Amino acid sequence: MHGRRLATLDEIVGLAAPESAKIIDMVESWAKSNDIGLTVLDVGEDITDEHIEREKTTLGISIGGDGTFLEAARSFAPFQIPLMGINSGTLAFLARVEPLDVEDALTAVYRGRASINARQQYEVTAGDINTTGINEMFLQKHPPEDRYGTKVGSLHVFVDKEYVGKYFGSGLIVSTPTGSTGRAYSNGGPVHYPQNNRTLQIIPHETISAAVDPIVVSQDSEIDIVLDSDFDIDIDGGRQFERLESDTVVHISGANQPVQTVRTPYDDAFISAMVDKLDWGLRTVDNDGPRSALEDNITSSDFKERAARVAREAARSAGEPLQELHGQVENIQYKTDKSDIVTEADYQANDIIETAINSEFPDHIVQSEENDQTVPTEGYAWIIDPLDGTGNFAHGNPNYSISIALLKDRIPVVGVVYAPEPADMFYAIDGRGAYQNDHKIEPTSRSQLDESMLLSGYDPSGEFLQAFYHETQGVRRLGSAALNLAYVASGSADAVWEHDTHPWDVAAGLCLLREVGGRTTDQYGSSYELSFNATDQRTPLLASNGSVHEQLISHIDTSDLMSE
Ligand code: IPD
Ligand code: CA
Ligand code: CA
Repeated sequence: MHGRRLATLDEIVGLAAPESAKIIDMVESWAKSNDIGLTVLDVGEDITDEHIEREKTTLGISIGGDGTFLEAARSFAPFQIPLMGINSGTLAFLARVEPLDVEDALTAVYRGRASINARQQYEVTAGDINTTGINEMFLQKHPPEDRYGTKVGSLHVFVDKEYVGKYFGSGLIVSTPTGSTGRAYSNGGPVHYPQNNRTLQIIPHETISAAVDPIVVSQDSEIDIVLDSDFDIDIDGGRQFERLESDTVVHISGANQPVQTVRTPYDDAFISAMVDKLDWGLRTVDNDGPRSALEDNITSSDFKERAARVAREAARSAGEPLQELHGQVENIQYKTDKSDIVTEADYQANDIIETAINSEFPDHIVQSEENDQTVPTEGYAWIIDPLDGTGNFAHGNPNYSISIALLKDRIPVVGVVYAPEPADMFYAIDGRGAYQNDHKIEPTSRSQLDESMLLSGYDPSGEFLQAFYHETQGVRRLGSAALNLAYVASGSADAVWEHDTHPWDVAAGLCLLREVGGRTTDQYGSSYELSFNATDQRTPLLASNGSVHEQLISHIDTSDLMSE
């Protein structure tokens, strides 16, 4: 399923059609009671930098029908602000939140229960027109001067410089997936599911040629249309309209900036809107049988699966700002010493993950490296490191990760380690194996030190390096404890040593390793336990594929380098 989560909300900027006072009042009182800033402008007014605070998470709303939504889409797109459409019109496909659901929909966004989807726009130049649109561009033969003149014109179409042919008729439509339910549909075009669908389609309008079918092309295709007669160009149902002379070249392709639309559980589903508004024969509005069956499936799939899904979604959402800030960290704070750092990125990722978990599991405690909660001794709770490998991150090195674990009675039962740069998602569910990007993983089966490749985390006096460097095929220091464990679980290293670990560094990785049959102990071979000791939670960890563990322990024992 597409769609990332909108995890936080600081302010709302709205564009409202005339006669929307009632809905504006509702939004105003909701914003006031949730302490969220609100600015509402009249449709037609320009949104500028003055209205939008860059460092805040802003939600754009349109209040009106589809026309207002389209205007708002154009205004918000340059700021990459997600847009929610509140419908006060009648036939709306785009503004999909009904007035009665306004408060619930805003609350859903506020609690992180909304997702953001991209809608393709097009870019067109012709004559004096140079604009973007979200629905369709319509070229219609300019009406004849007298009633005997022809209403039929012709034009030539090229896609990526390849000649498609000469279209005869009253015109041509180039539409986005969003526009597919409008004029394009009335002229025999297919309906496109609009979310995250990046295409354009070319549809003849009242053609007089037989067998001219619509063509669907990619958003990157360059479409050139050369006019044989005078045509009128109409952008998004009248937003811009102009007469074009014969021989004009119309150039159209997908726009770089999509419109970010917000979906909440209160949006009319797309197919239901089709059934309702276009009287589709596939099913009735009340008969959403197959959908209910799907939902039953989802509710019957169990709690840990759901928790793993939420954790993966939260990790992906938190990965986005991390990738944006990666390598441009200016503001570093030092916690205890020069290597113990925290940045704005750690806090942003932390907020996103906490919000996502809180909204799905409001009764669960979330302990994080960046908060002062503690996992209770019994029941379910979460432990997270929103950014593991902050040192690498701040220096622009891609070896950093997000670690999220669900614990039951302080034992990890779900573990997610996500590395945003390579987009590597490692996860494990108690009793159900461990995965990397949905492929089952397993560790190596090496049992001999001289065949093995080891990893080392924090090793302040270099004791692990000294003990093992010449005994093995190498000891690598990468910089994220959570990711090191994921690498051992998935077979790209045979073992890892960390001089001290906090529970948030390793809880998710321990779950991965347990699921693949790895072993986790201290340097003497005693079983590793997560420590929730209030004063010092640091514990040494030796983790391996399982089969090389005995040799590791006996070498530590004989080398005498690592015993304290
Ligand atoms: C650190 C990293 C590092 C490990 C340290 C951790 P942070 O976490 O995981 O690899 O050796 O012990 O504290 O501070 O980047 O979250
Ligand atoms: Ca860490
Ligand atoms: Ca951290």
